[in-house]
Amino acid sequence: MGMTFYIPGQKPPGVPVPGVPPSSAPAAPVNPAPLHPAQQPSKPAVQFAAPAEAKPTPAAPAAPEGGQHRPVGGDQSHEFCLKFKEKVLPHLIQNLDPRLLKPGAEAPLRARVEELVDEQLRNEQIPVGRQVRLRILTEIVDEVVGFGPLENLLRDEAISEIMVNGAKTIYIERKGKIELSNVTFFDEPHVRRVVDKIIAPLGRRVDESSPMVDARLPNGSRVNVIIPPLALNGSIITIRKFRADPLRVHDLINYKSISPAIATFLNAAVKAKMNILISGGTGSGKTTMLNILSSFIPDDERICTIEDAAELRLQQTHVVRLESRPANIEGKGEVNIRDLVKNSLRMRPDRIVVGECRGGEALDMLQAMNTGHDGSLTTLHANTPRDCLNRLETLVMMAGMELPQRAIREQISSAIHYIVQISRLNDGSRRMTYLSEVQGMEGQTIILQDLFKFEQTSVTPEGKIRGSIRGCGIMSKYMDKFRSMGVGVPHELFQNILEI
Ligand SMILES: Nc1ncnc2c1ncn2[C@@H]1O[C@H](COP(=O)(O)OP(=O)(O)O)[C@@H](O)[C@H]1O
Ligand SMILES: [Mg+2]
Repeated sequence: MGMTFYIPGQKPPGVPVPGVPPSSAPAAPVNPAPLHPAQQPSKPAVQFAAPAEAKPTPAAPAAPEGGQHRPVGGDQSHEFCLKFKEKVLPHLIQNLDPRLLKPGAEAPLRARVEELVDEQLRNEQIPVGRQVRLRILTEIVDEVVGFGPLENLLRDEAISEIMVNGAKTIYIERKGKIELSNVTFFDEPHVRRVVDKIIAPLGRRVDESSPMVDARLPNGSRVNVIIPPLALNGSIITIRKFRADPLRVHDLINYKSISPAIATFLNAAVKAKMNILISGGTGSGKTTMLNILSSFIPDDERICTIEDAAELRLQQTHVVRLESRPANIEGKGEVNIRDLVKNSLRMRPDRIVVGECRGGEALDMLQAMNTGHDGSLTTLHANTPRDCLNRLETLVMMAGMELPQRAIREQISSAIHYIVQISRLNDGSRRMTYLSEVQGMEGQTIILQDLFKFEQTSVTPEGKIRGSIRGCGIMSKYMDKFRSMGVGVPHELFQNILEI
């Protein structure tokens, strides 16, 4: 029953032939001083450009462009557009009928902007090519109805994160790599206008008295804003873009973030109601993995999800979703994750899925897991499975119950079955680096046993990390529980090796 990603006895598909580079491998790199092949260090030198790759890791069907950024017609036209926009915008806004700014009036608005822009361009007496004209039009419409310079970056599906470090520096993340974008704001007040536009519909404001705010864009993307004097280089906006279609388990297998054997094991573990903790750094793919693990929950169970910002997208029919709430401007009305976890226990959940444990809710989660809410899932910010256990201990202490350390460790070791560690590697890929089992206590120490791990062996000249995801040859000690839940796991799974 259920999905099988791994077929025993079969060699996993798509194992690359060692030593054979991808057919479209680029010619020798031009910019960084090339080393003689024999001198290639095993670690890649600092790379400033995204490595050209035959197969892009994330799904984004990025247009195969020559440069790193969208084609905008070179720096000169960028400068020109910026200057022109700055000059024309005030005039334009004065001459726009406010009725055109209502939602739904996109087409007439665009037509009117076109008219006004063309009028101004004629005054400029500089011939402007079609490309530049189109760009100016789009940017001005973005300015008037959207989030200004951010719109272009928000539209680009290949961009997963936008980081505004003050008006003139906007970084983006594309294919797991961070790069400087070619987009800028005019000045600091311009950034603040866009910030206001983002948070005003949520009834929030940002000013010196409340200089930090979390918000969400209409499409679900998460936004954090922090302004001076707390932020020293101007207003900082960080946007985690919400993918229109979230990554699924097959995507992770295709990217070799996990092996088919691990997908099979995790699917079985979720079905067998094991308690699983996903551990990883910021942006390593915790929420994505949580979404995938949750997708393995059978359709006849009642699932309760609890998040700070509802990001999970479960396909099951019986899902109740809860979202925490920050305090309002007067500092009242906060409902945090912990309150929601406690409340959820009175909602007859079969499964509790918590977006991220970062406070005292960790204790409530452990207690829930230990008292019949098996099969609960959550994530935690840590860099190794051992680190994850330590952090969990700290979080439990934040619940303020003054439990002795040993009692906390016992709670942890009896509640958690598996820790799935994911990492964002230097080449921008996200990979499951450990799947460890919590086996119990020995003296004062919680015993961790790796069942699978990623072992890095080398780095290709293009900077791609090579290695293998391998079973450690040790069977999970909870196989009885799997069996009693009627979930089968082939034993060879724990010896499976996937070369990357
Ligand atoms: N295995 C993966 N391969 C490629 N991209 C991934 C993978 N997992 C997540 N991502 C992308 O990385 C970004 C961060 O993922 P997310 O799950 O939100 O991270 P976290 O919750 O750890 O901060 C998202 O854009 C997501 O689509
Ligand atoms: Mg997350």
